[in-house]
Amino acid sequence: MLGLEAQDPLRILKMVKICCIGAGYVGGPTMAVIALKCPEIEVAVVDISVSRITAWNSDVLPIYEPGLDEVVKKCRGKNLFFSTDVEKHVSEADIVFVSVNTPTKTQGLGAGKAADLTYWESAARMIADVSKSNKIVVEKSTVPVKTAEAIEKILNHNSKGIDFQILSNPEFLAEGTAIQDLFNPDRVLIGGRETPGGQKAIEALRDVYAHWVPVDRIICTNLWSAELSKLAANAFLAQRISSVNAMSALCEATGADVSQVSHAVGKDTRIGPKFLNASVGFGGSCFQKDILNLVYICECNGLPEVANYWKQVIKINDYQKTRFVNRIVSSMFNTVSGKKIAILGFAFKKDTGDTRETPAIDVCKGLLGDKARLSIYDPQVNEEQIQRDLAMNKFDWDHPVHLQPMSPTSIKQVNVVWDAYAATKDAHGVCILTEWDEFKTLDYQRIYDNMRKPAFIFDGRNVVDEAKLRAIGFIVYSIGKPLDQWLKDMPAVA
Ligand code: NAI
Repeated sequence: MLGLEAQDPLRILKMVKICCIGAGYVGGPTMAVIALKCPEIEVAVVDISVSRITAWNSDVLPIYEPGLDEVVKKCRGKNLFFSTDVEKHVSEADIVFVSVNTPTKTQGLGAGKAADLTYWESAARMIADVSKSNKIVVEKSTVPVKTAEAIEKILNHNSKGIDFQILSNPEFLAEGTAIQDLFNPDRVLIGGRETPGGQKAIEALRDVYAHWVPVDRIICTNLWSAELSKLAANAFLAQRISSVNAMSALCEATGADVSQVSHAVGKDTRIGPKFLNASVGFGGSCFQKDILNLVYICECNGLPEVANYWKQVIKINDYQKTRFVNRIVSSMFNTVSGKKIAILGFAFKKDTGDTRETPAIDVCKGLLGDKARLSIYDPQVNEEQIQRDLAMNKFDWDHPVHLQPMSPTSIKQVNVVWDAYAATKDAHGVCILTEWDEFKTLDYQRIYDNMRKPAFIFDGRNVVDEAKLRAIGFIVYSIGKPLDQWLKDMPAVA
């Protein structure tokens, strides 16, 4: 039974309705799983982007996520609906999730760090305008601490007597495993006001999740703890990656092997084995943005030492990408001008087509800066997206698609192909930038035979067997592994 029913006995006669504003990587999969697990709840996902909603209603969903198609197909048209009629669905809903973009500000106060809450604010104002009944408004987007207070003010100053309860329910899913994470979350976090109304709202949302999540995994806190926990969790995760990446540089300098070091370190149960793979750097829409946000909040609260501590996580990530590009250029006789470099993988990690903040963007831009010709293959990312990403300014990606500033020209030195063998044919070097499983089992002998010599492989994800590739004849660079003699002779300065 939903807590809402206790609030208003008439509701027991009515189907509970949920509306989610924002049909993106979070809103779409999260709501599809709620619809699947709660057949008696009607779920509408709304968006201002017509193309996104059209795709959600088609056979080719706008995002690639293993298992998502099946969930959507089971519920769509029954209790799951995708629509651009934002106002209608919001006005009819009992619970409104808001999962819109929260980009980093590019102008004005806090530029380059603070979260831009334009989309959030416009959603809140619209909710206040169209509401005719009491609502629970749930922050699903990742927002700065105390955003709920601002949202509350907007809603309550325009409420016309309607009761709005604000909850923070940050999403912890990881792209690539979103459906699995939603089916079996480590925890669900719900923050609310410590008032009777706030507690009832928490209960109502807890009842939704309790359809499939064990209650001991549903954590209820105050609003500010929930908001901060999301930023803290992402900062801790990104910090682990930067820690192991920092070690990878030291491994290369000393002859240690980063995978052996990670394995030994991760065996300590206090540390654990996950998230200890060295790589070309972290990407994705959240880590950098959320840390910048955290840094800004620390600075605003007079905590520069804490701000600087977290800033370093991003600096190491940038250093790792630069270091990778420098290794490539220095190994190839200090220039890649006019040389064909194959890029295998563009998504920020495997099993997603998401390219937001992917390290591939910075690596490709670095190589293009040295006038390389790039031939790019990713099994889930198309040419239009890659050209868009390489032409876009930093932070512009985090706006609804139809509002993203677009460069009118595509980059001529970039060629996107649909096959790893086509990408590597006649190439001087190969860079592996996403850990797609298929890159482990490519016919590297065939690739070697069709490349220019000496043939280089720069493995930014440690997916290849270096010994086998060296036996074929490749010069191999794997992050954090003992260096090939060739690379020892041509040290890269980051
Ligand atoms: P997204 O960009 O895929 O989706 C956001 C959607 O909101 C877009 O389709 C946009 O058109 C729509 N939108 C913006 N303003 C709107 C408005 N006023 N009315 C209706 N629709 C509007 O973003 P994504 O990845 O789903 O992220 C959403 C939030 O969740 C962000 O705050 C993000 O930081 C957070 N988050 C993202 C995770 C991820 O893995 N992508 C994980 C956890 C949190």
